[in-house]
Amino acid sequence: VADVAVLGAAGYAGAVAAALLHRHPGFELRHVTARTDAGTRLDAVHPRTRVPLELEPPSTELDVDAAVVAYPHGAAAPVVAALLERGVRVVDLSADFRLHALETYEEWYGEHGAPELLAEAVYGLPELHRDDVRDARLVANPGCYPTAAILALAPLARAGLLGDVVIDAKSGVSGAGREPSHAKHFVTVDETVMPYKVGGHRHTPEIEQELGGGPRVTFTPHLVPVSHGELVSCYVMPTEAVDAAALYRDAYEGEPWVEVVEGPPGMTEVRETNFCRISVHDDPRTGRLIVFATIDNLYKGTSSQAVQNLNLMFGLDESVGLPA
Ligand SMILES: NC(=O)c1ccc[n+]([C@@H]2O[C@H](COP(=O)([O-])OP(=O)(O)OC[C@H]3O[C@@H](n4cnc5c(N)ncnc54)[C@H](OP(=O)(O)O)[C@@H]3O)[C@@H](O)[C@H]2O)c1
Repeated sequence: VADVAVLGAAGYAGAVAAALLHRHPGFELRHVTARTDAGTRLDAVHPRTRVPLELEPPSTELDVDAAVVAYPHGAAAPVVAALLERGVRVVDLSADFRLHALETYEEWYGEHGAPELLAEAVYGLPELHRDDVRDARLVANPGCYPTAAILALAPLARAGLLGDVVIDAKSGVSGAGREPSHAKHFVTVDETVMPYKVGGHRHTPEIEQELGGGPRVTFTPHLVPVSHGELVSCYVMPTEAVDAAALYRDAYEGEPWVEVVEGPPGMTEVRETNFCRISVHDDPRTGRLIVFATIDNLYKGTSSQAVQNLNLMFGLDESVGLPA
């Protein structure tokens, strides 16, 4: 049994990671940390976690085998570097190590706190990079939208069939984290649907990187009035005719957490689980394909995917401890 810590456990993503690891047979959750809520038990801050551990002030002086770092981008990089220095293996939930190219990171996020680690970080989407995750010291857990979008489009990208792509995405409000802001106020988000970051959301370069540098994608996220859940609708012009249903069935055959289904999926079908549910449809009048993928942003989109990565890193069955 490996000892783990969750840093930033009072945030939405950290709390879910702590809850999953606390009940995991292959890991012992030794430490949970927070700044504002230090000294309080995690189950007092987030009762649904049912984790009775006291939140400790932030520290990297932790005697653990692995850590999940659940900080915002920028804050994560120096902490990740310090943990690796101590021999702790890390799954970082932020964007700090997801992009391979430093100049792309700087263009979208600004200065990087530990650029020397970019080369060794493994992009933690198990369905694409399982073997590399097993050996990694540092896993960059994917963003929530990229998880759904990349899984929706990877079969076409790998087959070299990805032409023009539009990704229309919807997310529940927890996708933006716990910090209150006008944009997430109940009165602002209830009973409406709003696009945001049009033409410039930071997940765009991550999606393009993992689709193999093919076509540029148009990615437009929308905020919808649900607490968690994400759905991407992808409109794709394939570069040649394809039996898409067969392509997707084959691509994900044997994948424990990707369900290829016939009908279009809805968010509640995967809520609080590690599943990604995908369907692909022909639009014969236009020649386009329409691909839907849905996940729970706080589970397959973040924290249960982080546990899936930890399972691989510690030689465990990939699915142990994951919510179904
Ligand atoms: N929410 C999602 O669906 C989702 C999906 C994919 C990836 N992520 C990523 O996961 C990470 C955490 O997201 P979240 O949604 O859980 O955000 P959150 O609810 O805002 O939590 C972030 C936590 O980090 C701590 N923190 C903030 N700034 C810090 C700093 N400078 N140094 C140390 N700690 C700091 C905050 O707590 P204290 O102030 O108490 O320390 C807070 O608990 C982010 O990088 C996010 O992009 C989130």
